[in-house]
Amino acid sequence: MDSIIVRGNGPLKGQIPIAGAKNACLALMPATLLSEEPLTLTNAPRLSDIRTMTELLASLGAEVTALQDGKVLAASCHGEINPVADYDIVRKMRASNLVLGPLLARLGHAVVSLPGGCAIGARPMDIHIDALAALGAEIELKEGYLHANARGGLKGAVHEMRFASVGATENFLMAAVLAKGTSVLKNAAREPEIVDLAKCLRAMGAQIEGEGTSDITIEGVDRLHGATHPVVTDRIELGTYMLAPAICGGEVECLGGRIDLIESFCEKLDGAGISVEQTHTGIKVSRKNGRVRAVDVVTEPFPGFPTDLQAQMMALLCTAEGTSVLEEKIFENRFMHAPELVRMGAKIEVHGGHATVHGVEKLKGARVMATDLRASVSLILAALAAEGETMVSRVYHLDRGYERVEEKLSAVGAKIERVKGD
Ligand code: EPZ
Repeated sequence: MDSIIVRGNGPLKGQIPIAGAKNACLALMPATLLSEEPLTLTNAPRLSDIRTMTELLASLGAEVTALQDGKVLAASCHGEINPVADYDIVRKMRASNLVLGPLLARLGHAVVSLPGGCAIGARPMDIHIDALAALGAEIELKEGYLHANARGGLKGAVHEMRFASVGATENFLMAAVLAKGTSVLKNAAREPEIVDLAKCLRAMGAQIEGEGTSDITIEGVDRLHGATHPVVTDRIELGTYMLAPAICGGEVECLGGRIDLIESFCEKLDGAGISVEQTHTGIKVSRKNGRVRAVDVVTEPFPGFPTDLQAQMMALLCTAEGTSVLEEKIFENRFMHAPELVRMGAKIEVHGGHATVHGVEKLKGARVMATDLRASVSLILAALAAEGETMVSRVYHLDRGYERVEEKLSAVGAKIERVKGD
């Protein structure tokens, strides 16, 4: 397994290109199951999760070809479709459950393995099941697999979700677009990735209104056609790299960044004393002089502070002046980066869903271990300005969501290298 070595360094300077959104692409790719015609996704990120989704879709009979060094995905699904999403692939990546809605819409049945828990939580699927059942699907759990049937096809319905689940919203959208009649999803997730999926489905001929708000209305159509769709910028990669100059000092422009994608995050950076400026080509971030100020953070569904940036924000707050409290309200176990940061000299107390961070002057390099995707990158961010050398092991977690992290950070002056493991 590869490791990444980071040596604490001075201010960063330059530009970092931000890729297409992993979490948008993982919902867009299954949309190819909805039509016999080709779906082309441009600005696709080059990540191991995308390769896992490609593998899953191939097992179902869809074909996804990576073109232009992986930045374009040409997908099609015009032959025989296998309705079974196998445990061996689904257990590797929870987003595999996003084939459930499209398979039901296209075939009227699906057999999808439950993903099982992951490092950050149990990750149940009850909200997905309730949403698809509202459209007329009968879903039962047998030997770890969800067996879903919609005899006579899906029928439009009004359904209110108990929680604004991102994945359940995406499954509902991809099922309702081919259902008979009108559907209204209430308490829908409002994330930019939902808006991007709705745009793509509309380009394929779907009739959708209200995406980005809590109420989305879908008029079912008989069939969808092919389309070409650009994947929206990755707001989590964007926020992650904005924190590099915030932690190290200097000035970095994140190319392609848009403040409207992460407004609540930008407000917190401003509160911490970090300068954030929208330019014509992206977002320019610099640290005003003096130490970062402590700020409190509460993670919430969009437009609240993104849970996927909580670990990275904690890395910044470890050396802030004062005490910060971070409350994680989305996942039940998303502070695994805290003990690793403590190994680097951070002063953090975790009690249930709250982490209290007492800022210290400087962290010290240490050997640390990545535990999940966002925790791993928070350790790298912390190491950028720590005294001495840090080795982050198990970086396969990192490669799921960040393309070429060592290249992007080296380009702005970070001392970072990847060490090939066995
Ligand atoms: C998406 O996961 C993202 N993944 C996650 O990003 C992100 O953290 C999450 O949304 C929240 O923003 C992708 O888009 C591929 P949810 P998803 O359904 O859809 C509970 C990353 O680092 N829940 O909104 O699975 C669930 O357990 C990943 O890129 C149920 O209880 O998130 C969690 O506590 C991590 N029952 C909360 O809701 C359900 O049926 C949010 O889940 C579904 C969810």
